[in-house]
Amino acid sequence: MQIPYAKPSITQLEIDYVNDAMSNGWGEQRNTYLDRFESEFSKHLGAKFAIATSSCTGALHMGLSALGVGVDDEIILADSNWVATVAPVVHLGATPVFVDVLRDTWCIDPRLVKDAVTSKTKAIIATHLYGNLADMTELLKIGEQYGIPVIEDAAEAIGSKYLGQRAGSIGLFGVFSFHGSKTITTGEGGMFVTSDANLFERVLTLSNHGRDKNEERMFWPSAVGFKYKMSNIQAALGCAQLSRFDSLVAKRQQVLATYKSAILPLGGISMNPEQVGSENGAWMPTVIFEEKSNSSLLIQSELRKNGIDVRPFFAPLSTTGLFPTQKNNLIAGHLAAGGINLPAYFDISESEVVSVVESLKSALTRRVGK
Ligand SMILES: Cc1ncc(COP(=O)(O)O)c(C=O)c1O
Repeated sequence: MQIPYAKPSITQLEIDYVNDAMSNGWGEQRNTYLDRFESEFSKHLGAKFAIATSSCTGALHMGLSALGVGVDDEIILADSNWVATVAPVVHLGATPVFVDVLRDTWCIDPRLVKDAVTSKTKAIIATHLYGNLADMTELLKIGEQYGIPVIEDAAEAIGSKYLGQRAGSIGLFGVFSFHGSKTITTGEGGMFVTSDANLFERVLTLSNHGRDKNEERMFWPSAVGFKYKMSNIQAALGCAQLSRFDSLVAKRQQVLATYKSAILPLGGISMNPEQVGSENGAWMPTVIFEEKSNSSLLIQSELRKNGIDVRPFFAPLSTTGLFPTQKNNLIAGHLAAGGINLPAYFDISESEVVSVVESLKSALTRRVGK
């Protein structure tokens, strides 16, 4: 593909930090970058604690486990989601309950969350899809009313702010992904974030093979835990990326704004929203074709013919056949049928953005002509 959909931005700074970690980050220095990455990330987010992990999925798995999620529990989450959000729920033996999303935010519909709450509901997961923000005000109200924690899957929402608070710092805990396609990358990696001291301690113990930090015996677990640790070398990459946070996010926002100004006037299309008082981190510029004839699959194949890599909008998880039959969530289905993600990364040039827009326009014209 001439224009990939994602590409990390690696400068000399990242190379220097990683070289330093590789050369010196052993023995007493083995956690230097890890400690720094966790401390800088929690400060950046406005949360008290952070634990760097090997993936966002691992961070979510540990967080849910620390909440005691297990068999007989139900977890409510949006049907429009990546499978990573539901996998830990299934691994813990709990039942996922998929609800539809809102047409404007593409995130979980609080009204439907409320309808889905039962005596078995153990948590609500709000995924901030493609950088868009879930309605945290309403979700927290529901959580409070029923005594259920609201968790944020902010894998895709670094740089997004909800009414002044950074995504991932609002619910009981938040999880992030630093996969190679993300705005900040450590190759693979993630972060667990919370301001709840008890929960932090529980996840910290779980993250260290169940070894309590106060345990004097060296190889003595107090619980069967996990090994989802980020390496110091990955953390070095994370520290360099985090120091470039403002420019990495600003470029994504600028790319989204350029796409919007060129594509929205075509009509019959919606793109990533930004609620009043909030800021979209613009991880993944996304186009929804409202007309059925412009299906996601057809437009994707037209763009790929021109060397432009695009991604389909996530299929509703309930349609994958992996879960017991659930309600048909119409909006999630509509978004998947007509949605594509457009290329966005730090080094994308203006002329590449123009090429994507021109290809999209010509694909649409061809569809209309048929
Ligand atoms: C919404 C969402 N949740 C969770 C994940 C999992 O992230 P990771 O691949 O770091 O485990 C992703 C990954 O892209 C995601 O998009």
